[in-house]
Amino acid sequence: MDAAKAVIARPPGSADRLMRLAARDMAGVDELIVERLQSPVSVIPALAEHLIDAGGKRLRPLLTVAAARLAGGQGEAGLKLAAAVEFIHTATLLHDDVVDGSRLRRGKVAAHLIWGAPSSVLVGDFLFARAFELMVETGILRALEILARASRVIAEGEVLQLSRAHDIDLSQATYLEIITAKTAELFAAAAEAGAVSAGASPARSAALRAYGRNLGLAFQLADDALDYGGATETLGKNAGDDFREGKVTLPLLLAITRLGTRESGFWERAVARREQTDADFRRARELVVGAGALEATLDLAGDHAEAAKAELAGFAPGPWRDGLEALADFAVSRRA
Ligand code: IPE
Ligand code: IPE
Ligand code: MG
Ligand code: MG
Repeated sequence: MDAAKAVIARPPGSADRLMRLAARDMAGVDELIVERLQSPVSVIPALAEHLIDAGGKRLRPLLTVAAARLAGGQGEAGLKLAAAVEFIHTATLLHDDVVDGSRLRRGKVAAHLIWGAPSSVLVGDFLFARAFELMVETGILRALEILARASRVIAEGEVLQLSRAHDIDLSQATYLEIITAKTAELFAAAAEAGAVSAGASPARSAALRAYGRNLGLAFQLADDALDYGGATETLGKNAGDDFREGKVTLPLLLAITRLGTRESGFWERAVARREQTDADFRRARELVVGAGALEATLDLAGDHAEAAKAELAGFAPGPWRDGLEALADFAVSRRA
C-alpha cells in the first residue's frame, strides 16, 4: 500500500542500539516493575500482568535511563523514576482503552474486555499511585514535580481530545495541542526526570526535555499515520480505531481540508453524525492516502525527529547520543 511505502521512505532508525546499551539498567527497571505491581488484592497483579507481560516497547523508561546516562549519571534513583514513568504510561493505556473502546492492546484482548471497565480504571489508578510512591522514594522533589505535572497534563490532553471528538472543523493548532499534552508531555518529562536524577545542569535538562517533547510529537504523529497505514498484526492494536471513534487526527484533518467540498457529505455522516458502516473505514483510508495526508503527517513527524536530534548537539558524541539519534528516526519509521 502507498502508506507503507511512505513509511519505508524515512530514515530507518532503531531502538535496538539504545536497548542493548541500556540492557542492564532496563533489567533493573523491569525488576522494579514486577516487584511493585504486586498487591494482596489478586485482581490487581492479574490485570496489570496481562498488560505488562505482553511487553510494549518500553520507550519512555528507556528515555529516562538514557537521559540519565547521557548526563553522566547512573544510580538507583534513575531506575526508580524510569519504572515510575512506565507505570504512568501503563495507567494511561488502561484508561485510554476504556475511553477509546479499543479491543486490542499489545496483541492481546484489552483488559477492560476481560475484567470490565471499572476494574481497568481502578487498576490504572493503582499504577499511578505506585508511580508516585517510587518517585517519593527517590527524594528528588524536582523529578516529582516534573512527573506530577506530566500526569496532570496527560489527563487534560485526553479530556480535551474527548471533548473535540467528531468535530470535523478541528484546527491543526488544537490537534497539536492535544498530542502535545496526551503524548509529548510524558516523553519530555521522562527525559527531563532522567537528566535531573543525574544532577544535570538546568540547560542540559532543558535540552533533554526538548528532545523528549519533539520525540513524543514525532511518535504520536507516526501513531496517527499508522492508524490508517499500519497493519493490525504488527501494531498489536486495531488499525482504524481513531476513525471509528471519530478522533480527528492529522491524517483525517488534512484529508478533510484537502478534498474540500468533494467528500464533505461523507465526513459529515461518518465522523460528525457517527453513522458508520463497516466499509467506511476502508473508504476513509483510501481518501486519506489519496490526498497525500499520510505522507504529510510523516513529513511533520520527520521534522520533529530532526528537531529532537538537534537538541543533542551540545552533548559529547558517543554511543548514548548516537542511540538517542537513532531512536528519533525510529519514532517515525516504526511499524509497531
Ligand atoms: C501507545 O504508546 C500510546 C501512544 C502514545 C500512541 P506505545 O506505542 O509506546 O505503547 P507500548 O508501551 O509500546 O505498548
Ligand atoms: C495515546 O493516544 C495517548 C495516551 C494513551 C495517553 P492513542 O489513543 O492514539 O493511543 P493508542 O493508539 O490507543 O495506543
Ligand atoms: Mg487509544
Ligand atoms: Mg493511536
